[in-house]
Amino acid sequence: MLSPNSTPNPFRDAADRQRNPEPCVLVIFGATGDLTARKLLPALYNLAHEGHLPTGFAIVGFGRRPKSENEFRAELRTAVAKHARFQPINPAVWDALATGIFYQHGDYTNPADFQRLAQRLRQLDRERGTGGRCLFYLATPPAQFVEITQSLAAVGLNDPDKWLIVEKPFGRNLATARELNRLLTRAFTERQIFRIDHYLGKETVQNILVLRFANEIFEHLWNQKYVDHVQITVAETLGVEARGSYYDQAGALRDMVQNHMMQLLALIAMEPPITLEAEVIRDEKVKLLRAIRPIRAADAAHCTARGQYAAGAVQGQTVPAYLAEPGVNPKSRTETFAAIRLHIENWRWAGVPFYLRHGKRLPKRVAEIAIQFKAPPAVLFAAETNVPLATNTLAIRIQPDEGITIRMNAKVPGAALHIQPVKMEFRYGGSFGARAPDAYERLLHDALLRDATLFIRGDEAERCWEIFDELLATWEDPATPAPEPYEAGTWGPPAADALIRAMGHQWRRP
Ligand SMILES: NC(=O)c1ccc[n+]([C@@H]2O[C@H](COP(=O)([O-])OP(=O)(O)OC[C@H]3O[C@@H](n4cnc5c(N)ncnc54)[C@H](OP(=O)(O)O)[C@@H]3O)[C@@H](O)[C@H]2O)c1
Repeated sequence: MLSPNSTPNPFRDAADRQRNPEPCVLVIFGATGDLTARKLLPALYNLAHEGHLPTGFAIVGFGRRPKSENEFRAELRTAVAKHARFQPINPAVWDALATGIFYQHGDYTNPADFQRLAQRLRQLDRERGTGGRCLFYLATPPAQFVEITQSLAAVGLNDPDKWLIVEKPFGRNLATARELNRLLTRAFTERQIFRIDHYLGKETVQNILVLRFANEIFEHLWNQKYVDHVQITVAETLGVEARGSYYDQAGALRDMVQNHMMQLLALIAMEPPITLEAEVIRDEKVKLLRAIRPIRAADAAHCTARGQYAAGAVQGQTVPAYLAEPGVNPKSRTETFAAIRLHIENWRWAGVPFYLRHGKRLPKRVAEIAIQFKAPPAVLFAAETNVPLATNTLAIRIQPDEGITIRMNAKVPGAALHIQPVKMEFRYGGSFGARAPDAYERLLHDALLRDATLFIRGDEAERCWEIFDELLATWEDPATPAPEPYEAGTWGPPAADALIRAMGHQWRRP
């Protein structure tokens, strides 16, 4: 039998990726929702298509709406036909998956409904040989996470052969994340809890560790001696779309910076792990996060900038102001843009600013990490031409056009000595062709294998909140100035430029 988290992880052995998880049942709570239709079922269908699901695999959707099993399957088929990676849908693959799809109507707090669920799982175990193994996916709003885990524990569905995936957001500040950890670990052990961050399922994000630790040329330069600063940008052209009421309670810092961008930072800056086991990698990430200086209230004004989009035009389309979006309080002080300067107080990174920037309604959709190297000595060419040389940049593009670019100086052909920066590019699409698996596909497969490498540990989630806890409280304080407006379609408020200029740097225009 597999013990949780003991499976070799996919970084270690490519052959492992071909391995199928042991037979089990996946129970999705909130299976009638958007996430299940757009992400989970298409990902499961893709895994089935690739032959990565175990024999005997079954899915039980648990929801509060009465629904027949056939209705449920038909809805999921429509969703898969729309969102799956492999198109058109293969009827044989779908039919095989669909015979293992079931629906149970129930209430998250009703013990009788959970007794019926336990009964159904025992029956599926007998019919499909799932060995009592069951993965629970909490795909409901977070307010339901605790009651679901408590109802599962109350009927004994928390033995070591049960484990669960918890969706984001994981709390809304340090105190609520701690409380959520405390309550979840009353019903399940830490090793049974897989907190999802879909950014970690992205191929390019996983490639950060490969780039750093499977190549000899970068790691020696990866420190304060050679790196001037690091910029992490996640820019979106979209506004809040249909999520106005959710977003207005969250904001840019909670929705993107505190979780996804901190994961990028941890992977780019952590020390090399001594093995590729889940706990070892996560220990290194936590060690790095502990070295980040939390932002104190007194630092908010000079280490951060926040903004809120006003009406404008994005890629030629006129768009309304955030305050005019449906579901948003017209007097909202929620930020749709955040720029932050962080410092890592360890031997490797002392004195190197890490700038994080995220916003909605920016001119371009792009996510990238740029390592900006120090300038070469101002002798030889720089002295000769009297023009400062461009600095070297290594940019890791996470989306779109996933790849890596290195900027370096080259001589312009001709008799005169003109030096110009040029780009050396690697593109995933060009080098590997095939469309990469969706993040949820990768993460579901890992969770079925009980490999926790790409999931967030409880202490990691808390530390990410701790770094921003005072800042969040400061921003929520009515005495703090409201976010600075920026025109939709621009790169954020002037304060973001002032933040980086104060250190003698400037934002990249990816
Ligand atoms: N959608 C995404 O792309 C996305 C992305 C990242 C994270 N997430 C996270 O994934 C989870 C699910 O997202 P979603 O977009 O699928 O959510 P959703 O559509 O709002 O809700 C999912 C299901 O949860 C149940 N539910 C909703 N409100 C409830 C309530 N007050 N009490 C009890 N049950 C309730 C409903 O099922 P029944 O009424 O049938 O019980 C609903 O179909 C959330 O935690 C969300 O933050 C979603």
